[in-house]
Amino acid sequence: MTPAIASTFGIDFPLFAFSHCRDVVVAVSKAGGLGVFGALHYTPDQLREELRWIEDHLDGCPYGVDLVIPERYVRADAEGRQEFGAADLWQMIPEGHVRFANDLCDRFGVPPLAGGATLRDTAELAWSEQVARRQLDVALEFSPALLVNALGVPPRDVVERVRAKGIRIGALAGSVRHALKQKEAGVDLIVANGYEAAGHTGEITTMVLVPQVVEAVAPVPVLAAGGIATGRQMAAAMVLGASGVWTGSVWLTSAESELPPVVRDKLVAAASEQTARTRCITGKPARHLVTPYTEAWDAADTPDPLPMPLQTMATTEALTRISRSLATGNEGARELVTSPAGQAIGLIKQVRSCRTIVNDFREAFAAALGGIADGLG
Ligand SMILES: Cc1cc2nc3c(=O)[nH]c(=O)nc-3n(C[C@H](O)[C@H](O)[C@H](O)COP(=O)(O)O)c2cc1C
Repeated sequence: MTPAIASTFGIDFPLFAFSHCRDVVVAVSKAGGLGVFGALHYTPDQLREELRWIEDHLDGCPYGVDLVIPERYVRADAEGRQEFGAADLWQMIPEGHVRFANDLCDRFGVPPLAGGATLRDTAELAWSEQVARRQLDVALEFSPALLVNALGVPPRDVVERVRAKGIRIGALAGSVRHALKQKEAGVDLIVANGYEAAGHTGEITTMVLVPQVVEAVAPVPVLAAGGIATGRQMAAAMVLGASGVWTGSVWLTSAESELPPVVRDKLVAAASEQTARTRCITGKPARHLVTPYTEAWDAADTPDPLPMPLQTMATTEALTRISRSLATGNEGARELVTSPAGQAIGLIKQVRSCRTIVNDFREAFAAALGGIADGLG
């Protein structure tokens, strides 16, 4: 079976894998799917190094790059400036938010950073168009088959630059309204990302979102995303009209995943109800593993999370305390640590290599479609 979308991208199975881990991207693409590298956490120089490594290891297989160009960011100031420097942004952060996150670490016995570092000078302007545009410049030095944008409609000049390089452009959408805006912006591919998904999500479940988006944006192809971790679900998504699927959570539990083993094991052990949408990580609703860290922020009497990117900046120090202490086996850090995670983690029972995951998808997909055909016969 080679649906149109697969031949468009030169793959033999329309399974798209989002990951911040280069090993996952390469392994999935080499197994016949399409690995898409999440650029978000990388400086332009690091991104250049990662993409070079990916292209060196792909043996010519196609891959994609994902950027985050948020449409909504902290408000423009009185002069209408949309772009703020780190110093401007720090001025908008109430001290209470920084203290709340650090107090939480203190309560769980997670030690402060060495030398009293606060990370204020190094907190990057992640989640901003400024940074994403620098990442785009780097991505266009390479030859991805696909460039995907999250958190809004890609600006017109971005669509034009990507297209001019012969690269296809896609975008995530969590509602029909957003999908129609993406279509109008001229994207080649829409990822209909449902409520169950890890990371930023809207309010509509995948089962309900996908057929509506497929109908609304036709003939633009749609990938179904959110909650998909098996070939049986992939078959269901394609019966709903999707041209393929876009997945994230399942790769966090892969053998190649960049997650510390303690976090990966927490995800494998967790049930679907142990994830929740919370604004405490980025300021926008994003689904994460529920831990005492997310529970503390989501309690009734705690500070209201700040808009993007201020919440990330306010909590960078505390989250860095947690991640650094994990490596030393600190018990409090193990309890507090969270990760983006979708409801699909309830379907995952063991760590597998990416190749095995792709092959399991293929087998279950074929069996499910065969089962439907037999039932009709
Ligand atoms: C660890 C992690 C980080 C993510 N970060 C991004 C991101 O930077 N950009 C993006 O477009 N999507 C991001 N997502 C969302 C995925 O692209 C995808 O939409 C989602 O994982 C699909 O749902 P699933 O997790 O149920 O498979 C992230 C997902 C995970 C698991």
